[in-house]
Amino acid sequence: MEHQGKTVTLKTSFMLFIAQFCLAIILFSLYNHANRSSSSNEFSYTSIHQEPVKDTRIILVWTWPFGNIFPLNKCPPYTDISGCFYTANRTLYSSADAIVLHHRDVCYSRKQLPQIQRPPNQYWVWFNLESPSHTPNLHFMDNLINLTMSYRADSDIFSPYGWLEPNQREENFTIPPKTKLVAWAISNWNPNSKRVRYYQELKKFLPVDIYGRQHLALPGNNHIKTLSNYKFYFAFENSIHEDYITEKLWKNAFKSGCVPVVLGPPRENYERFIPKDSFLHVDDFSTPEELAKYILKLDNDEKAYQQYFTWRSRLHPFADTNWQTHYCRVCKALKEAPAHKTISKLGEWYK
Ligand SMILES: *[C@@H]1O[C@H](CO)[C@@H](O)[C@H](O)[C@H]1NC(C)=O
Ligand SMILES: *[C@@H]1O[C@H](CO)[C@@H](O)[C@H](O)[C@H]1NC(C)=O
Ligand SMILES: *[C@@H]1O[C@H](CO)[C@@H](O)[C@H](O)[C@H]1NC(C)=O
Repeated sequence: MEHQGKTVTLKTSFMLFIAQFCLAIILFSLYNHANRSSSSNEFSYTSIHQEPVKDTRIILVWTWPFGNIFPLNKCPPYTDISGCFYTANRTLYSSADAIVLHHRDVCYSRKQLPQIQRPPNQYWVWFNLESPSHTPNLHFMDNLINLTMSYRADSDIFSPYGWLEPNQREENFTIPPKTKLVAWAISNWNPNSKRVRYYQELKKFLPVDIYGRQHLALPGNNHIKTLSNYKFYFAFENSIHEDYITEKLWKNAFKSGCVPVVLGPPRENYERFIPKDSFLHVDDFSTPEELAKYILKLDNDEKAYQQYFTWRSRLHPFADTNWQTHYCRVCKALKEAPAHKTISKLGEWYK
């Protein structure tokens, strides 16, 4: 009996060993796979059924945002869309568990909002990436909305213009070769805006290459490569609001490997999202002339300039500007949403 027991134990341990070995191999390949997909920014998208099946939550995309059509039910893996079905077909309105209202498509007339009787328990998700200065008629939304989705970190569904992710292992970031000093791309030239007034003063002390309407042409497909020649990029926001930090920082500056010079909410607000040694803030300087002097000083001090890239050994930026990524976040939020919530006055929060 004793002998037999030992054999059984040996057999069992051998089986256990084999099982653990297999598990290790599986985990190792999963780990490698995960590493590969996270080090590149190109995601393989996950698709789900193109038909709603029983017990799925139906999410109705009420309008294509600014008319941009994108693939539905095809989402990056960091969003979880299991158990949801997205549609843009309004005949599904009455059975939809949620509808997503893109503010700027519905804010010019109440007629653009659903006119049919609202089904009980349907969530209305308010979606907006524009700043409050460019968000008219917020009062149209009073007592209609259940969940908010925006760049504001305190939204029910936080959907930023970009974010940072940790590197899997420490990386030596290579600063793109630099042949030029400062770039700024601006499409909406408003002479009275803070950013244009700041520039008018700054340009007396610093040469700046300006891209955009009425300025140098910025070829869309070569955008990042063109900007990467510059040491600095002016990520100047069109209006100043909490958390309003846009693709100007994430894409034009970070993705191009330029040091951002930001004009927007206060420095502390930026530091909630990005390292304090990753950017210059116009508020760090008492005058535009002081900022110009500092930029010229860094231009002649390679070591000091490189310090603005130290954080890249730990982190890398994401600028996911696809519309679908924002909409893909709705599913998970819906599954976790409170059973009952209404926002009575959106305008008291969104300012
Ligand atoms: C919308 O859904 C209805 C009902 O399922 C279907 O008859 C109609 O063809 C769909 N429309 C489009 C544009 O897919
Ligand atoms: C990064 O560069 C340093 C200095 O050149 C080198 O010692 C280190 O091994 C490199 N690290 C990686 C992860 O390549
Ligand atoms: C959503 O808000 C509407 C309007 O106030 C309300 O009638 C409805 O009960 C809310 N739904 C949920 C699921 O909270």
